[in-house]
Amino acid sequence: MEQSVLINSHPVWDRFVRFFHWALVSCVAINYFVLNDGKTFHQWVGYFALTLVMARIIWGFIGSRYALFSDFFPTPGRVVHHVRQMKSGNHKIPLGHNPLGALMMLTLLTVVLALGTTGWMQTLDAYWGEEWLQNLHRFIGNFLISLATLHALAAIVMGRLERTRLIKAMVTGVKERW
Ligand code: HEM
Ligand code: HEM
Repeated sequence: MEQSVLINSHPVWDRFVRFFHWALVSCVAINYFVLNDGKTFHQWVGYFALTLVMARIIWGFIGSRYALFSDFFPTPGRVVHHVRQMKSGNHKIPLGHNPLGALMMLTLLTVVLALGTTGWMQTLDAYWGEEWLQNLHRFIGNFLISLATLHALAAIVMGRLERTRLIKAMVTGVKERW
């Protein structure tokens, strides 16, 4: 399916996508910076993050138009086309995720799932006290924060280049150009 192009302003992100995004950001930030002791609250916040990601995956099949994986799935053809257009300096602005943003979005979801899984494994008798698992969980946590920083910077830079309020759109749901 060809992606629709943003002309002026258009509603893009539904309520669930917006709630999902900022709730996930809060869970990750709380678990990384505040409740990073691995105790009960850390575990509950981590499970809530996992639940959010699973709900988002379901929403990717049944949600509103721009939330659907089929709208933005970064097929090699879409990624190459997007990069070529960016290089030529006259790329069109897709209404939903651009293919590189979509690649990052899918990576972030996968990394949160990996973090939740390695966290949960630490609570099992079979892996209790295993140092390699603790180190792996910590490594994935650091990796997630690095990716998320890159992702937020990309949203700021792309928003400026495209003169589009990308971050505001994740709050109000409406993508606007200025
Ligand atoms: C958003 C998801 C999560 C994030 C961002 C996160 C992040 C972290 C961080 C930064 C630490 C501290 C590592 C250190 O000692 O330097 C940690 C430790 C720990 N986490 Fe998570 N975590 C998440 C999910 C979970 C889940 C779902 C569980 C279990 C159900 C869990 C269990 C633990 C445990 C047991 C530790 C202590 C490990 C140790 O002693 O080093 N985490 N986590
Ligand atoms: C732990 C931190 C973060 C995670 C895990 C994360 C994850 C995600 C995910 C999964 C999406 C896709 C949304 C969807 O389709 O459901 C997304 C989109 C987006 N995020 Fe984040 N995010 C994080 C932090 C941030 C921050 C700090 C900002 C802004 C300062 C930000 C700005 C955005 C924007 C603007 C989009 C929409 C991109 C577009 O227009 O294609 N994110 N993020």
